Amino acid sequence: MSVLTSLPEWKELSKIAESVKSAHMRDWFASDGERAEKMSLSACGIYLDYSKNRVNEAALSSLFDLARACNIETIRTNMFEGEQINSTEGRAVLHTALRNFSDRPVMVDGKDVMPEVHATLEKMKGFTESIHSGEHKGYTGKPIKHIVAIGIGGSFLGPKIMTEALKPHTVDAVKVHFVANVDGCHIHDVLSGLNFEETLVVMSSKSFTTQETLQNTLTAKDWFLKSGGTQQDIAKHFVAVSSNVKAATDFGISEDNIFPMWDWVGGRYSLWSAIGLPISLALGFDNFKALLEGAFEMDTHFTTAPLEENMPVLLALLGVWYRNFFDAQSHVLLPYYHYLRGLPAYVQQLDMESNGKEVTQAGDSVDYPTGPIIWGSEGTNGQHSFHQLIHQGSGIIPADFMLPLNVPNQDDTHHAMLASNCFGQTQALMQGKSFDACYADLDGKGLDDAERKRLAAHKTMPGNKPSNTFLFDSLTPKTLGALVAMYEHKVFVQGVIWNLNSFDQWGVELGKVLGNQVLAGIQGEASKDDFDASTQQLIAKFRAANAPK
Ligand code: F6P
Repeated sequence: MSVLTSLPEWKELSKIAESVKSAHMRDWFASDGERAEKMSLSACGIYLDYSKNRVNEAALSSLFDLARACNIETIRTNMFEGEQINSTEGRAVLHTALRNFSDRPVMVDGKDVMPEVHATLEKMKGFTESIHSGEHKGYTGKPIKHIVAIGIGGSFLGPKIMTEALKPHTVDAVKVHFVANVDGCHIHDVLSGLNFEETLVVMSSKSFTTQETLQNTLTAKDWFLKSGGTQQDIAKHFVAVSSNVKAATDFGISEDNIFPMWDWVGGRYSLWSAIGLPISLALGFDNFKALLEGAFEMDTHFTTAPLEENMPVLLALLGVWYRNFFDAQSHVLLPYYHYLRGLPAYVQQLDMESNGKEVTQAGDSVDYPTGPIIWGSEGTNGQHSFHQLIHQGSGIIPADFMLPLNVPNQDDTHHAMLASNCFGQTQALMQGKSFDACYADLDGKGLDDAERKRLAAHKTMPGNKPSNTFLFDSLTPKTLGALVAMYEHKVFVQGVIWNLNSFDQWGVELGKVLGNQVLAGIQGEASKDDFDASTQQLIAKFRAANAPK
């Protein structure tokens, strides 16, 4: 038995869960008129209604006991103070330093890193302004009008999704295009419409070893040279964001054009670093800074609010409750805001690459479920696609609904409909529709009783499906920063409770190695005996279909 499942707090939760499972949220709302108000929380401009969750006071109290038993407060302090909590790579985890607007130094290996964090922000600010003002010109003297941001994973999702979410705040000076996949369709689609005289490539790769990003940048460089640019002009049209300065300069990026990153910032936690340069270019540096300020406010809330009033802690515990005591396999994010449609994909990497693990810090296999599958899409679209399963499928899928109370260029009719769908869905998930109500609805339809009962069974909505609802006045850069930091800290708290190292990603390494071996196979540079029979035949099919004509 693991340390976690041996805890008395864990055993108490198991007992409480059994009693809660026989309760229906409908009845809790009926018996406590103050439930909704009591189970709401505000922080950093975000309002959370968590009353449509399958928890009562006993469950909540016991969940907070579990958090304390897992030393969440101590480990939280360790993270913010630069302890090497990334225990398999011997690194600190300090994405919070990137948005540290306090005067507090942050020490890494005995050195305060804040001066270099501030210097990098200044470099980003100056570069952004030089591009927007037209001071930075291309090799034929034209101002830069298009940015091609190349990266993948945390070097792509943050910049792209934050820029998309804040579209109402974009500047006119430049248009930012994002490329991630090594599928040539993407980079060629983007480049084919651009004039390289007025185009700048931002190549983002913390390791500077990621195949997709290197290949896409090589293709862009090749396109630049074929468009009339020379090797000497590269410096005007290519900049890099990386912690691997040597590899970047070896690649041909001039050192002045490299924005630094540090190994104490994980890729999926890096949008606050120079990885966010495309965000600054798209929105202006001040809006990028506001994003950081919002995250800093959430950091302050996370480190100072009592656990019972701590939004990331509460969300983490609710996730543990469903994952470990209700056998929930996934968690769905439903942003009822078109510009925030990318958030599920962002949180997918953040959560699943952090807690998609089955080995504890000590290297023992877990005897409990860990990170859930994270998925979702914008509302109301999901209602016409997968909400059927959330309402009537077997098991539960805890849901995060989120809605800005105001949107840019608001059409009141559209916005009222959006809100009514958002709230209506959470109500339907919670209260459902009983068999008796469905049976009554079928009265007078000319059905015999057996058919009436059969159809009523199909139409019954069990309800008791949990959801959180987040509201915010409008999605400003600051609010978005707080929202993303909230999810970062939720993931951190769950990783502590599950006793995982949330900050490495060994699971992606084998695929990268084998991918390169298969590439050699496809290019005829490896023995087919290097591969299993299935991979051999797949390679053979590909080679046959792409044999020189
Ligand atoms: O998926 C593995 C991973 O290392 C992610 O953690 C990271 O965000 C992405 O690949 C890109 O890595 P890099 O920024 O080093 O190119």
